[in-house]
Amino acid sequence: MNSLLATSLYLLTVNLISCSITTQYYQRLINQGTKEALEYKLPTSNNEFKQGVETENTEEYGEFDFAIVGAGSAGSVLATRLSEIDDFTILLLEAGGEEDDFNQIPALWLYNQFSEKNWGYYSIPQKHSCLGMNNRQCIVPRGKLLGGSSSINTLMYSRGNCKDYDNWAQLGNHGWSCKDVLPYFKKSENSQVHGDENYHGKGGLWNVENPQPDSPLFQTFVNASLELKQPIVEYNGKNQIGASHLQSNIKHGKRQSLATAFLDNSRQRTNLKILTKTLVTKVVIDPQTKQAKGVEFVTRNKKFHVRATKEVIVSAGAINTPQLLMLSGVGPKDELSKLKIPLVADLPVGKNLIEHPVLVLTVRSTYTAPKIDMNELIQQYLNGFGTLTKGSNVEGVGYIQTKNDSNKAPTIEILFSVPPHIDTSIFQREFNHNNNINTKLIDTTDPQRDIFFYIVLLHEKSRGRIFLNSSSPIDFPNIDINMLAEREDVETLIEGVEYVQKLLKTDAFKKINATLLEVPICSKFKIGSKEYLECLIRNLAGPTDHPCGTAAMGPNNGKYVVGDTLQVHGVGNLKVVDASIFPSSISGHLNAPTVMVAEKAADLIKKKAYTCQ
Ligand SMILES: Cc1cc2nc3c(=O)[nH]c(=O)nc-3n(C[C@H](O)[C@H](O)[C@H](O)COP(=O)(O)OP(=O)(O)OC[C@H]3O[C@@H](n4cnc5c(N)ncnc54)[C@H](O)[C@@H]3O)c2cc1C
Ligand SMILES: *[C@@H]1O[C@H](CO)[C@@H](O)[C@H](O)[C@H]1NC(C)=O
Ligand SMILES: *[C@@H]1O[C@H](CO)[C@@H](O)[C@H](O)[C@H]1NC(C)=O
Ligand SMILES: *[C@@H]1O[C@H](CO)[C@@H](O)[C@H](O)[C@H]1NC(C)=O
Ligand SMILES: *[C@@H]1O[C@H](CO)[C@@H](O)[C@H](O)[C@H]1NC(C)=O
Repeated sequence: MNSLLATSLYLLTVNLISCSITTQYYQRLINQGTKEALEYKLPTSNNEFKQGVETENTEEYGEFDFAIVGAGSAGSVLATRLSEIDDFTILLLEAGGEEDDFNQIPALWLYNQFSEKNWGYYSIPQKHSCLGMNNRQCIVPRGKLLGGSSSINTLMYSRGNCKDYDNWAQLGNHGWSCKDVLPYFKKSENSQVHGDENYHGKGGLWNVENPQPDSPLFQTFVNASLELKQPIVEYNGKNQIGASHLQSNIKHGKRQSLATAFLDNSRQRTNLKILTKTLVTKVVIDPQTKQAKGVEFVTRNKKFHVRATKEVIVSAGAINTPQLLMLSGVGPKDELSKLKIPLVADLPVGKNLIEHPVLVLTVRSTYTAPKIDMNELIQQYLNGFGTLTKGSNVEGVGYIQTKNDSNKAPTIEILFSVPPHIDTSIFQREFNHNNNINTKLIDTTDPQRDIFFYIVLLHEKSRGRIFLNSSSPIDFPNIDINMLAEREDVETLIEGVEYVQKLLKTDAFKKINATLLEVPICSKFKIGSKEYLECLIRNLAGPTDHPCGTAAMGPNNGKYVVGDTLQVHGVGNLKVVDASIFPSSISGHLNAPTVMVAEKAADLIKKKAYTCQ
């Protein structure tokens, strides 16, 4: 045989074999991960750190310039930016472990919530929302691994509305207006979308793509939006209000958490030390000088103390940051004194919890997605396209102003999610619906046919609260999410439902005979009446996993926790850098705004270090 032919035959065979080995590996990975998630028992406390917490002996871990608590979205970006300065030494402390091949697959995002990658929180029983959930508790997922919540989230890339940041500035936060923060959005971004000129970064560390390919239904959504006189826009550009194509933080179809995008580029630096499986239990603050001096942490069943000579930065996320501050004596005086925690600073920590309630409507049409077997889906994924590369299979995004006020930010977001849905088996655990609702809702779902409309309330008036259960870092904090406590929130969500009903009446959707599937609950009300819709919303709407605002930024007047340099009011050398600092709501998802905050915080710190004082 011709030797060239023999070589190419050989190479072809090797290629086919290695290809099938890879496919088999992913087959097993997906089978195992999805199966385990259905059974996984979520923890109810931080028991895994108990032995370390109860150790008598505290060892000294030495000295760093900066100690950063939490390697989530904000912590990963901050640690990467600060370690660009050779003279800085940084210790990054993370409670969870590493990412893996499973969490890289965007479509399987829900399953991560039922694994050790999630803290395991639920809200306390609710009065106004989540009434159809087990024990009236909403699920509150939070990433517990490098990359934090960005390693388990749905990967939608959205910045919100210009007016959101102008609102922050108006509250008294100098340097946080829309025009001030735009450069920081662009700095991190490596945009592959055809976006508006001057609004996007290219060459940043964090990739943004449109997932590929679109289903034929995407054009139906676009046509229907046009019929309702909505403009077609690029929602992270000049105009947000209208209908758009989803932009996602994936790179060639794989998850781009902030650990993958940022930390993987910095973790080999000698001035950055990362400790995983490490729980920070306290910020050490000198009671006389009110200066943060370091932190205490437990890891591998031992207890340590480390000094931070420049700053302690808390980036533990909107649930854990307020918990850690309160455990360290920074919080509401009356609450801390009840738990006998010595007070360092009396601040409204944990209050002002903001969330985006979301109602999911199911629509059936004559469209049926072609069935593609898992082997093929894996092949597609490895080539950067297909269902596995899409978080929730969302293709279309609508930002709607239901109040008809062109001067304002949108009030409602519509996410248009197309079949096939490969993850319906986990819906029951995800929504935490009680059995009565499950049998009526989820068991009738048709993954090949059902379209989901997610209706998100962008600017809720209700506020929840994080408060301590005890003075022990082993206990979870109490999460009172308190969604829909204000009537206006329900009314605006009903406007969102009415918008979807109008969409379904367009020629575009009529062409495919799209019909809303009614859930047979709330049957004591007339279907379609306001009372009926309110009942649906209070039973079925859940959180969008966007908690923020629990250490809000604003003037030192008793209403806010940090100032506009992110310094905790009244405490030296202590900053909060994460979604906790958002003083008011964002017209979109929170990951990009959190990254923006971290980019800006890093610059503030670097500028201070280089300015003679
Ligand atoms: C399921 C889900 C879906 C979402 N979907 C989207 C989306 O599609 N688009 C979007 O923009 N946003 C989305 N979000 C929101 C977005 O991901 C978060 O708002 C963002 O990641 C928050 O970043 P953060 O830095 O504030 O907190 P996190 O990323 O949560 O980081 C906090 C980190 O601190 C660690 N930590 C906490 N306490 C301690 C401690 N005491 N000691 C040591 N380490 C600690 C945690 O383990 C975690 O790694 C979603 C969130 C979730 C959970
Ligand atoms: C969308 O509208 C265009 C122009 O009217 C039409 O040609 C196309 O068939 C429509 N597509 C769908 C999916 O409705
Ligand atoms: C919205 O405002 C426009 C312009 O002010 C007006 O023409 C239109 O009728 C209003 N629509 C509704 C539904 O109120
Ligand atoms: C602490 O949590 C337990 C278990 O959820 C609950 O029963 C108890 O009421 C909580 N205590 C406080 C003070 O919040
Ligand atoms: C359209 O939907 C209705 C309600 O689901 C159903 O009764 C009807 O048969 C459908 N028509 C077609 C052509 O599928």
